[in-house]
Amino acid sequence: VKSALVINGTSLTVDVEARMSLADLVRDELGLTGTKLGCESGSCGSCVVSLDGRPTLSCLQLAVCCEGLRITTIEGFSDDSLMHRIKAAFHSEHALQCGFCTPGLLVLAHALITSGRDFDERTLREELRGNLCRCTGYVGIIRAIMNCRSAQPSP
Ligand code: FES
Ligand code: FES
Repeated sequence: VKSALVINGTSLTVDVEARMSLADLVRDELGLTGTKLGCESGSCGSCVVSLDGRPTLSCLQLAVCCEGLRITTIEGFSDDSLMHRIKAAFHSEHALQCGFCTPGLLVLAHALITSGRDFDERTLREELRGNLCRCTGYVGIIRAIMNCRSAQPSP
């Protein structure tokens, strides 16, 4: 199926299998391998990308259904100042070890902070329940995101 998509700010027309997931499209067809695939069944959060600013599990999202939406993978945030701050906070708070969960967590954190929703540590823990990290124990991840939220100017 020919699909007109906007990925990381670039408009593309791609030939997409009707059943292809967005994760397979970005990784296998477009070479955007920053998006990780873990469970491929909606349970680990490693494949999160932004769809019109909403964090979305790209392994469960059909690529053909993304026409008209802004798709942003971790690569699409390379010039984003908030994302730079979140990455720096992950680094300084030791919020990653193997890094497999990190792209999904970064995209989720960016969406959470830019949504303007008020969240505290307890609600952040709930938000993170779909993003599995087997290495860190989450303490650094939570600290990093809370630090960036506190440093974010009010809207
Ligand atoms: S790969 Fe998508 S949720 Fe695990
Ligand atoms: S840093 Fe290894 S899974 Fe999170």
